[in-house]
Amino acid sequence: MVILSGTSAPALSQKIAEILKIPVVKREIGRFPGGEIRVRILDDLSRKTVVLLQSLENPIHDHLMELLLLADATKRCGSSRVIVLIPYLGYSKQDQIFRSGEPLSSRVIAQAINTAGYDRAVLLELHNENILTFFRPKAADLSLKAVFADKMKPTLQENALVISPDDGGLRRSLEFANLLGAPFAKLSKTRDLATGEVRIHRVSIPVSGRQCFIFDDMISTGATVVEAAAFLSEAGARSITVCATHGLFTKGWESFVRARIDRLLVSDSVPLPAGAPTYVEVVSAAPMFAQTLREYERA
Ligand code: R5P
Repeated sequence: MVILSGTSAPALSQKIAEILKIPVVKREIGRFPGGEIRVRILDDLSRKTVVLLQSLENPIHDHLMELLLLADATKRCGSSRVIVLIPYLGYSKQDQIFRSGEPLSSRVIAQAINTAGYDRAVLLELHNENILTFFRPKAADLSLKAVFADKMKPTLQENALVISPDDGGLRRSLEFANLLGAPFAKLSKTRDLATGEVRIHRVSIPVSGRQCFIFDDMISTGATVVEAAAFLSEAGARSITVCATHGLFTKGWESFVRARIDRLLVSDSVPLPAGAPTYVEVVSAAPMFAQTLREYERA
């Protein structure tokens, strides 16, 4: 087994390679004069299982194109099996038609990857697990819930409460609460689809004096966690810890000044933007990915 990395997450690829003691494939990724992406694999891949790792974060279209071209090149280089490992799947929030006239974007992305070709796809904390059905031939959706929960357990107080920031996150928050052995509540959230503005209206049970945990699949602009934390703080929460698998922070850190978050944990599914507040911690997904790849190799 060897690992081949696009330009999105070389540090994560390196970590997985170190854990599995497998080589990182030498490759070139550049541009043709017209702006087209040019990739070239420099190592011999014949009869090898190739793990092709690429996170579809910003600049997402470059990263997507690299992934498609690398997948094609990998097959042409005689590999025996290609596992595409996509720690963050861009466009996953476009998992349904919200307004008439829109495309089903997450399906379009999955189909493009299907066309480039692979034997198995590994994804992480999908926004909606139905997206898995768009992938052919085989795809798995891993979760870091247990990893985050294990990190949180030593800090757990008797009055701990897990709070889902919205209806879409109910199931994953409930699973997180079960892992912690803590009760569960939910916030009522609305988002203006045109402006993206998020409003939190109420919480299902009182939070005053309680240790509150929010679990979410991703922080994109930050609006959801910032508004949720502000609401919970106003409602008397004693502490607020946020665990979110994908920390995109697309609008930077400015809005987090008023967030009143005590701890914020994200994974290395995408690189953390510079300037993070001191309460932000990164938990690596590499051990979990390595374990999964080991199991595939044995199977
Ligand atoms: C919502 O459905 C998701 O689970 C996240 O809560 C949301 O994507 C976060 O986005 P933002 O950070 O822009 O509020």
